[in-house]
Amino acid sequence: MKLNLFILTGLILTLTPHTWTAIAREGSTDKKEIIYKNPDAPIDDRVGDLLSRMTLEEKVLQLSQYVLGNNDNINNIGETVKKFSGKEGSLIFVGVEPQLRNAMQKEAVENTRLGIPILFGFDVIHGFRTVFPIPLGQAASWNTDLVAQACRVAAREAISAGIDWTFSPMVDIARDGRWGRIAEGFGEDPYLCSTMSAVSVKAYQGDDLADDGSIAACLKHYVGYGASEAGRDYVATEISRQTLWDTYLPSFEAGVKAGAATLMSSFNAISGIPASAKHYTMTEILKEKWAHSGFVVSDWNAVDQLVTQGMAPDRKQATMYAFNAGLDMDMVDNCYVENLADLVKEGKVSEERLDDAVRRVLRLKFRLGLFEEPYTVEKPQSERFLLPEYKEVAEQLAQESMVLLKNESDVLPLKKGARIALIGPVVKNRFDMLGSWEGRGIEEDVISIYDGLKAELGDESEIIYAMGCDFDGEDTSGFHEATAAAEAADIVVLCLGEKRAWSGENASRSTIALPQIQEKLLEELDKTGKPIAVLLSSGRPLDLTRIAPMADAVMEIWQPGVMTGPAVAGILTGRYNPSGKLAVTFPYTTGQIPIYYNQRNAARTERAGRYQDIQSTPMYEFGYGLSYTDFDYSPLKVCIYGSDRYTDTGDNVLTIKEGQTLTAEITVSNTGGMDGKETVLWYICDPYCSITRPVKELRHFEKKMIRKGESRTFTFHIDPERDFSFIGPDGNRFLEKGDYYIMVQDQKVRIRLD
Ligand code: BGC
Repeated sequence: MKLNLFILTGLILTLTPHTWTAIAREGSTDKKEIIYKNPDAPIDDRVGDLLSRMTLEEKVLQLSQYVLGNNDNINNIGETVKKFSGKEGSLIFVGVEPQLRNAMQKEAVENTRLGIPILFGFDVIHGFRTVFPIPLGQAASWNTDLVAQACRVAAREAISAGIDWTFSPMVDIARDGRWGRIAEGFGEDPYLCSTMSAVSVKAYQGDDLADDGSIAACLKHYVGYGASEAGRDYVATEISRQTLWDTYLPSFEAGVKAGAATLMSSFNAISGIPASAKHYTMTEILKEKWAHSGFVVSDWNAVDQLVTQGMAPDRKQATMYAFNAGLDMDMVDNCYVENLADLVKEGKVSEERLDDAVRRVLRLKFRLGLFEEPYTVEKPQSERFLLPEYKEVAEQLAQESMVLLKNESDVLPLKKGARIALIGPVVKNRFDMLGSWEGRGIEEDVISIYDGLKAELGDESEIIYAMGCDFDGEDTSGFHEATAAAEAADIVVLCLGEKRAWSGENASRSTIALPQIQEKLLEELDKTGKPIAVLLSSGRPLDLTRIAPMADAVMEIWQPGVMTGPAVAGILTGRYNPSGKLAVTFPYTTGQIPIYYNQRNAARTERAGRYQDIQSTPMYEFGYGLSYTDFDYSPLKVCIYGSDRYTDTGDNVLTIKEGQTLTAEITVSNTGGMDGKETVLWYICDPYCSITRPVKELRHFEKKMIRKGESRTFTFHIDPERDFSFIGPDGNRFLEKGDYYIMVQDQKVRIRLD
């Protein structure tokens, strides 16, 4: 369903004719003398000055956000706003051409009393027009440089369309593949997610928000949305204080420390209190403990939903709860505009709180330089979208995100000259390769696997194509053609997967296995006895119980974006060596969910408490991923920083005192036949702690290219204060004396903190 919430024609403009006449009445027309108009004045002075001139109505409008343009997001259907005053704080802009934005901005800047520019926001989640892999795939690249470059490209394209603010990065920890929104985040681990959170924020925002190419970031969804019960969207969550601090808050804290301008409150209730009305998280933690000076915007309709959630009996009380809890801007539901002024007049919302929220919004507008440069330069699309260097980043990030899960008898890379049966619903598909939240990406921009492989191979190899079946349904009529193609080929490359609408918002699934029709197609092809490489395109971890045993090779390609074809073809032919590692555990079956690597120890070990019907270990664990080459890890060794007396694995213990730090090293040699990138994952473990800790916890990672025959050393500088300490349920860090392990793969060194 499409909604035109705002249209330029037919606007009822309720504007004071000219900004300057209003200012003149206040005594001066000299820009320099009006502090808020003076670009040389400190931002806080400008904010204070502007605030002192604002009426209650103007303040409330600054805290309200609406939609401009055709909203084509099926989950977000709002009330039509009939009146545009030019004084709204923010508009969600769903266009690619800046003219409409500029026209609205002109109303705000030139035809309102105070001339406050509007802040234009949009969901730029994994690219704007140059669509990159979904974030779950990006995380699997472990390549922070590439992720940063993708954010920079996304920012540039979005800014050129008229967007100042992206509702990204999404840093919800997700451990339930049934939840469709697992696609939008960086996976199951707080450390990896925190790292990607900080990297994305810094890349979006640059050194200075006013710089060309900088866009304001928004960490979402604050907080705990990924804990959705049974993977159902929008439901209540049950999160203890310990888990909140351990699991769900770190990625937000990292983003805040990296300077994130804004956060978006989430839909879920946290142990009874909806996140959009939770004082503890929005005010006590975010604004007080972390001293965040930006603002919190609600998720779509989240204030109004406090009624549906059973907290507030009506929209007025919902407004009071949300606003007093620290929610500064109201996304689209009009609750603040309808109720906030009355609540202030009735003394139910304090003027200090109102001013604080407005100050936060204005501060960002000043920081972005909107008062000085409110308009977007209008340029042709050919100069701003899909530039060759943008596509290069997209191809690199796509290929590094792909994870080789199985490769028996080295069926991949494809042998030169081999006849290839290229089969499956994903082969020629372009639409679904964009993933959910595709920004302004369009199907026509995507290079399909078929076109990519054709271009890569030229006349070198024959490709025999058959679709075989659709993503779902029961139509097996294409099976015959598919098996004929397989019979005629040396190897089958079977491309299976999910439609993009199967993940993302409001896209929960009860099982994470692929529809039976796809598994049946594989079964038929398996009967031909040909080697089969299965490529999987999905927005979630998959249940591969039936697929993996039938396949000789399995590679997860996610939803790779516009450069799907070249990235896949590069990996299939060996032009690229796969280097992705899972950022989320692939369970053995859906019934194992939730399963994630950093679980705590059970009370009984061995077979006790295990499943009777299936293995209790996952199919592929977090961090798993193969390469076409072989990497040998040297013994892990650790020394006190500055000394050269190393302790290695075995029974030795390295004892350190408070204040001492450590250096851990491991050398990785490429002993195979191809150059390749390897990511070393450094874990720690605290085997005995007064608040028990997970069996292992990621604390550092590094990815490096290692040429064949060469070795490279990976280092982790360990500061026990940072790396061995944990946060308690009160949000305070503590460091206990005793033993810790530093772990890489199956090696560990014991450290004793004296
Ligand atoms: C989603 C957010 C998104 C917002 C605006 C909501 O439904 O939950 O992630 O930023 O809509 O489009």
